[in-house]
Amino acid sequence: MLLTAFLKEGTAALEPLYPSSEARSLLLMLCEAQLGVQRHTPILEPSYEIPSGRLPSLLAALERLKKGEPVQYVLGFSEFMGRRFRVSPAVLIPRPETEQLVMAAVDILRGLPRGARVLDLCTGSGCIAWSLALEVPGTSVVGVDISQEALQVARSQDFPLDAGAQAPVFVQADVLAPAAQPFPFGPFDLIVSNPPYILEAEKAQMRRNVLDFEPPIALFVPDSDPLVFYQSVAAWSGRLLVPGGTGLVEINETLGAATAELFSSAGFSDVRQMKDFFDKDRFVGFRKSAS
Ligand SMILES: C[S@@+](CC[C@H](N)C(=O)[O-])C[C@H]1O[C@@H](n2cnc3c(N)ncnc32)[C@H](O)[C@@H]1O
Repeated sequence: MLLTAFLKEGTAALEPLYPSSEARSLLLMLCEAQLGVQRHTPILEPSYEIPSGRLPSLLAALERLKKGEPVQYVLGFSEFMGRRFRVSPAVLIPRPETEQLVMAAVDILRGLPRGARVLDLCTGSGCIAWSLALEVPGTSVVGVDISQEALQVARSQDFPLDAGAQAPVFVQADVLAPAAQPFPFGPFDLIVSNPPYILEAEKAQMRRNVLDFEPPIALFVPDSDPLVFYQSVAAWSGRLLVPGGTGLVEINETLGAATAELFSSAGFSDVRQMKDFFDKDRFVGFRKSAS
């Protein structure tokens, strides 16, 4: 089959789900990953024939896309902070907003002496933990998640450790039960977290490819207790942050003031809300008092 024909027929097959330019772009990503062709190959080499041995897996991938499965799960990877992270349906696909959290955390770490210690609560694919370990060599990072499948994905990330960068350590723990389990790590200079924060009530506005394919455990909190994870992050931070240490969390855009208030009430100082690229309240930072 010609590559151009696959792209044309595939785009038509995906049009019920995606605008045609997005559908073509998804198929090009697939062809780049599976065939090693370039985005411009269909234009520069219109007679490019898909090797027959490669066609079955390409058609199988197209079938998955036709069911609405996110392209990142089909490809098995997602780009984050300029790196290619392995993903599976056991983990949230890393989001661009979370790159902003990482950038803010990198700024904090660069202001600390080399060798800072970081705790990443609800680590998922490990995208935050790995990015911090790699962006600021010398940093030691512990990533925590309740899901063994997610931890397997986080541990499977495979990046060169240049300039003294250390691979994060990934451990299983229930973030919602901070005192209930032994945790032989810490103290930490920085605690970061992108926990589940979508209300059940917000499900109706969500895209089907998120609802049908991303793990519910990574997404939702009860409407009756939407800040439950932040309450626990405050408890972990109270116990494990060094005096003067910093916390940084990603939040539900509708709950900025309430989340900030939670950390203030828990006794943290310098509590501040920060916006994402879309001007939505997306992050809260706080500090543990120095004395
Ligand atoms: C929103 S995802 C964030 C994943 C990753 N940090 C990121 O930014 O892409 C939340 C993660 O929290 C984990 N999780 C849910 N409940 C948890 C709990 N009680 N204790 C620890 N981790 C939990 C999920 O398995 C999921 O990996």
